[in-house]
Parts: sequence; structure tokens; C-alpha cells
Amino acid sequence: MFLVTPIARAIQDAGVFSWDFGLTLINFVTPSRKVEHVTPAGHPGEGGKWPEYIPPKEGDSRCSCPALNALANHGILPRDGKNISFPEMTNTVRATYNFSPTFSFFVPNYAARTLNKSYGKDRFDLADLDFHNGIEHDASLLREDYHFVKDQGKPHLPFVRELLDSASGKDKEGNVLLTPADLSRFSSKRRAESRANNPEFSLDLSHKMFGSSNASTLVTIFGGRISDLESFLIEERLPEGWESRIREPFGLTIASFQPTALKVEFGIDESKYTAEASSTVAGESGEPNPAA
Ligand code: HEM
Repeated sequence: MFLVTPIARAIQDAGVFSWDFGLTLINFVTPSRKVEHVTPAGHPGEGGKWPEYIPPKEGDSRCSCPALNALANHGILPRDGKNISFPEMTNTVRATYNFSPTFSFFVPNYAARTLNKSYGKDRFDLADLDFHNGIEHDASLLREDYHFVKDQGKPHLPFVRELLDSASGKDKEGNVLLTPADLSRFSSKRRAESRANNPEFSLDLSHKMFGSSNASTLVTIFGGRISDLESFLIEERLPEGWESRIREPFGLTIASFQPTALKVEFGIDESKYTAEASSTVAGESGEPNPAA
């Protein structure tokens, strides 16, 4: 009996990865969506026209993910962030960000598992996703650790600013770009600081990979463009006229995403920041680092 769930999950995951591999191959041989036609016809955001942005009100539910909060802030998910079904999250993430059907199913399905909920039958509030060390983890780029701030629903603006200001790339049109190397550098610093300051710090391999994967969406889905990331990360708002930079017909697959996520993860070197982080420890009491 105890083996049924892990075996069923392993079979389900193997099915998703095979399907994902197939979609990755089809993406290679199928023409890309045309610029300004990436968001599907009939979906909010078609032609870059996003529904009205309304910041969250007192009592609304928000989480540590800027992408899901933005969906609620535009009313693509319920504006109060409550009573959402997992398939609703899958469908809106897929159409808005052009994640592949496999990726858009895999992450919400994983979230349902960590919350001990049924993907098909149960509902959740966005804040439920902040179950610590489910997907939410320490040393995030945009939030202080759960030990210091229990409500993970708002960006920590000093971190966001530091990340945006660290952008070192530029494209042919002169747009300033965040690069995978910038993400690795900022992650290295965040991990060193959290390890030094947070008395409850934890970050296992799966959470390191979640961290690098989440961060990598900024250079894939957003193409690293600082002009778009400013409103996405600070206000959790989709810029007017914006569309996903992923133009493949079946979206960003799990397989095609791995090289970027691995590049970010392998580029992280905490040791470069360890001495600096230790010297900025606020004290033995576990106070947040005032420099952060
Ligand atoms: C498919 C459903 C999704 C779920 C269930 C989900 C969930 C989460 C959670 C729980 C976190 C917090 C991780 C942490 O502690 O740092 C997070 C962070 C994040 N997510 Fe999502 N997410 C989803 C889709 C997306 C999409 C589509 C994007 C991009 C377009 C995205 C971009 C990010 C970013 C940039 C972070 C912040 C990483 C950081 O602070 O280090 N997510 N997500």
C-alpha cells in the first residue's frame, strides 16, 4: 500500500518527461509563433493588452512567486488569490507565459503533492504555496528568508533593486539584459548571506535546483530585459504590450529549460561571498542583515 503512491507518481513523471521530450523535438521542426502573436487568441493579454492591473488589497492571498501574483493582480487568476484549482493554474500559466503543457502541468502537480492535495479535485490559496521547504525555500533572490518574514507574498525591494542593478548584458537594440552569470552571482551572494545570518538556514539540492530554475525564467520567459523585469518584479505587473519571449509553438519545455537552469546553478560560488557575508552578520540573535 505504501508503495502505490510513489510508484504511481514515478509512472506519471516518466509519462510527463517522455511527452516533454516529444514536444521539445516538435518545437525544433515547427515554425515559431509570430512576434505579437505569442499570447494565444482569445486569452487575456492577446496582442499585448493585459487586463487591468490592481495591486493586492488587505486580505488578498499572495505568494512568493511573482508570476502567479501577477496573474492575480491582472485578474487572470482570481484577484483575491483564493480558491484556485490546480488545472486553472496550469492553463493560465501556459497561455500567459508560454510554458509548455508539460511544464505547466509538472510544477502545479508537484505543488499539489507538496501540499498533500489532489491536483484534480482540491483548491488552494496562493499563500498555501509558501509552505516552507515545499517549493518555497531559503536564499531566494526576491524574498527574505521565511525565518525573518513569514508573509512571503511581497517582494523585498532592496533585493529586487540589487538584482536589477546587477544586469551586465546588452542586446543589439541596446536593451539592458540580466544574464545567467548575473543570476549566479546574485544567488551566490544570497546563499552566503542566508547561511551566515539565518539560524534556521536550509537549502538541499532539490531546493537549490528550484532556486536556479525559478531564477532562470527571468532570462528565458522575459529574455532578461530589465525594462520588462522592473514592473514584473517590483509591482508584479505584466508590462503593457508584453508577451513571452518564448516563441516555440509548444512553449518552454522542461528539457529545453535545463541548460539555462544548470548554467545558473553551476555558476554559483558561495565561497566568493562567505567572508563578506560573515562580516555583515547582524548578531547572534538572528536579526536580518541590515545590508540586505
Ligand atoms: C507553474 C506554476 C508555478 C508555481 C507553483 C510556482 C511557485 C513558485 C514558488 C513557491 C516560488 C518561491 C520559491 C522561493 O522560495 O524562492 C516561486 C518563485 C519564483 N517563480 Fe514561480 N511558480 C510557478 C510558475 C512560474 C512562472 C511561469 C514563472 C515565470 C514566468 C515563475 C517565476 C518565478 C520567479 C522569478 C521566482 C522567484 C525566485 C526567487 O525569489 O529566487 N514561476 N515560484
